Parts: sequence; C-alpha cells; structure tokens
Amino acid sequence: MSAKINVLFLAAEAEPFVKIGGLADVAGSLPLALRALPYQATRGITLDVRLVLPLHRTIRAESAALHLAAEFFVYRRGGNIPVQVFEMSSGGMPVYFINGVPLSSTPSVYSQDPAPDREKYIFFSLAALELTRHLDWQPDIVHANDWHTALAIYALRTNFNGLAETRIRTVFTVHNLPYMGGDSSEVLSAYGLKPLNDDSLPTWAHSQPLPLGLWAADAIIPVSPTYAREILTPDFGCGLDPYLKTRMNSMTGILNGLDVNFWNPETDKTLAERFTADELPARAVNRTALQKALDLKEDARLPLLVMIGRIDKQKGLDITFEALHQMAHRSWQFVLLGSGDPALENAAISLQADFPDRVRVAIRYDEALSRLLYGGADMFLMPSRYEPCGLAQMIAMRYGCVPVVRATGGLKDTVQEGKTGFLFKEAVVGSMVETLERALTVYAKPEKWQHLQRNGMKEDFSWPRSACQYAIIYRSLMSDL
Ligand code: GLC
Repeated sequence: MSAKINVLFLAAEAEPFVKIGGLADVAGSLPLALRALPYQATRGITLDVRLVLPLHRTIRAESAALHLAAEFFVYRRGGNIPVQVFEMSSGGMPVYFINGVPLSSTPSVYSQDPAPDREKYIFFSLAALELTRHLDWQPDIVHANDWHTALAIYALRTNFNGLAETRIRTVFTVHNLPYMGGDSSEVLSAYGLKPLNDDSLPTWAHSQPLPLGLWAADAIIPVSPTYAREILTPDFGCGLDPYLKTRMNSMTGILNGLDVNFWNPETDKTLAERFTADELPARAVNRTALQKALDLKEDARLPLLVMIGRIDKQKGLDITFEALHQMAHRSWQFVLLGSGDPALENAAISLQADFPDRVRVAIRYDEALSRLLYGGADMFLMPSRYEPCGLAQMIAMRYGCVPVVRATGGLKDTVQEGKTGFLFKEAVVGSMVETLERALTVYAKPEKWQHLQRNGMKEDFSWPRSACQYAIIYRSLMSDL
C-alpha cells in the first residue's frame, strides 16, 4: 500500500469562503486537520486532502489569488456546459472552485425552491469528478458531504463515463439525513445518469441524491456516534432506517471537532474581557457589556439564557418559547440570535413582546455578538428535535456557558449531565422546564456552578482525535489495494 492517500473532499460550503450552516465549519476545518495529522497518528500514511467548492456568487476569496486550473465541458442533454475551475492555496491546501452557468445563475448558496438547487449541485458533483481527469493528481478517495455532493459518488459507483475503472473509493458524511435533495429524475436523466435499479432502497429513494450517496458509499459517516445509532430507528431514519440497518458494517459515527484556536476565550478579541477557566469572574464584564448593548437590566445575579443559530423547527425554538412562558414566575433573561424560518422568527418577536423587559431577539447572523453571548451568558439552550452533531454546545462549553440540551445525537455525546451541563430526554416542554429548574437550582450555588463551567472549559473538542478516526477509515478502504 502506498504511504500517501489522495482525497478529493467535496462540499457545498466551507469556511472561510462561504458559510450558511455547520457544514461549512466541518468542510473548512476537517480537510486541514487531516493534512496536519502526524505520521504516527495515521499509522504511517500521509493524507493529501484537497477541497472542491462551487464558485458561488458570494464566495469570499480574493480573485487575485485564484488561477485557472482547468477548462472542460460537462455533458448535458440539449447542450454541453462549459466549466472553468479556479485553484488557490488555503493553509497550504489546494482548493478548487468550480464555475459554470448552473452555479452562477442563482444568487444564493441554497434556494427556497429546491429545483434550481438540484440542477446546480448535480452539475457541481459531476464537474468535480470530471476535474480529476484534468489534473496531474488523482484521488484515491472521493469524500462527499450531504445530498449536494452525493451524486459524485453515485456516478463513480455506476461507472458514469467509465469512471469506475479508476477504482476510486468513496466516503459519504451525513450531516443532516432529512435533507435528501428530493426527486431528481429529470435532472439525473438530463445529465445522463440513471436512477437506481436496486430494491435494497425503497422506490421513492431511487432518484433522490442523499439515498443514492448512501447506497454508493464504501463508508458512511454520520457526524456523531449517537446519531449513527438513531438513524437506524423509525424516529430518526426518515424511512431509510431499514436500508441503513443493512449497511451497519460500513457505518461509523465520528463526532465533529471544533477549531479551538478560532473559538478561544483566552484570545478572542471581540470579547469585552478575555478569560481562562481560572478567571471565571471576568465573564461578568462580558455579561454587563451584553446587557448594556441589548438594553437589558444590568443585574449580575439574573441568569442569562441564550440560543444562537439557525431558526429552524429542528432546533426546538418553539419548545423554548413555551418553556419560558411556563417559567414566567422565575427570574431570567433570554437572548436569541439567529435567522431562518419566518414563522418561528415571528414567534420569537412575539415572545419579546410578551416579555419586553427580559427577552431580546436579534434576527440576523452576527458573529461578534455570538462571541459575546458565549462569553457572557450563563446557560446555552439547545432543545433540538434531532442534532446530528451540533457545534454551538461545544463552543458554549469552551466559553464557560453551561449547555442545557436535549439528549440526542451529538448533544448526547458531548454534554455530560451534572458534570458539564444538563440534558433532557423528550423534546417536549415539560421535560425542558424540569431541566431548566434543575439548572437554576445549581445556578443558585455559585461554587457548584463554577465547577460545571470549569469542567466544560477543560473538555477537549479539538479536531485531531476526530480527524484520526477519518484517517483510519481512509486507510481501511485502501488496505486491499
Ligand atoms: C448539520 C447538522 C448539525 C451538524 C452540522 C455539521 O448542520 O444539523 O448537527 O453539527 O451539520 O456536521
């Protein structure tokens, strides 16, 4: 076996170029973490991982740093589509940006209407594969992420354009199972791909990108061990659980890591006061700065509860809103930062109208405010209905903000009851209220509370451990060569 494994890593978004959700954090840091693994950690292999992204209109890359790496066509019925691929180096890693009309014709990374997204991402997936024929570098492994890039590995497996002859191995990371890409029969056929002809998957899944990616993948990686078990059940499996059970031997849950330099309360310049686990009282300065900025009562004893992230049903915001209503008689302040589903955004605005003295809702993406919230608030609420991994709870712990979370997916794998945070089993208001009451009781005993904060701050969520698990999977896929 060769001592070097080449990996082509495909994603719809990646930091620092474009970010919509958690996928961007992973795609922005995992490839670099894999490249940086020491030789011993990978049991004697080096990983040449290269990232491929769509050249979205919103890409934040200096055009001066980009150079044209390849030009070719992707077959499409009715007229082949010209593709330009630009390359740049990011942290020493080659990053390829694919450009073509299906990608440049829509302004946003994802649309509300799924149809243009199907055209866009199927084109992207096939163009990324075709790129490998135009580089003097060949991947041993194609690593796809979520439905947007799933068809790249389906195309490989079904020998699209004679690609299977290259014996490329495939890895598919599942960040969010319910988003499958929808029925794509028309677009598949326009690009010369056939729907699946295999009854191991239910018929409705035969032309949906995510299930086709699962079917094609040599290794399936859900983003936490608990999520890997949950998707084998009807509650979380979205109808694919019977199929996934047949693939258990190819499935490994690997927890995402956190970029611990990017998220570090000791060096974070946006904080009003930086701190370590031994300087917890310094957090009060951040809390006061927040209360001032948000026009909330400046009171050091009131517990400040926060939620940060996508405003989506998945995240259980409605559960929080109702729980806070039921706890109206208790003292607390609540801040929500994020954007997303308009109906939930409106529900959040009504919550603020119901509690004008103690609720603030900021409907936007605001990294600086998020950092101040992590560094100044007391409790981080995450009552997710499902959570494949979740990053915010890890950031919260690193910043001494104690998580109160639903025991699901990655939340269950990262938060420890009574040691680093509080967990509840059911995604229902009663369980959340009960758990918040438990947390408030501990909060009233500052020494005990600080103990929780310090425990959380000392947890190691850094990438190398997770990257190492990926490296072991890559290695095992190559072992018979
Ligand atoms: C999705 C999931 C989230 C996960 C992220 C990165 O956004 O909802 O739980 O952390 O992908 O894997």
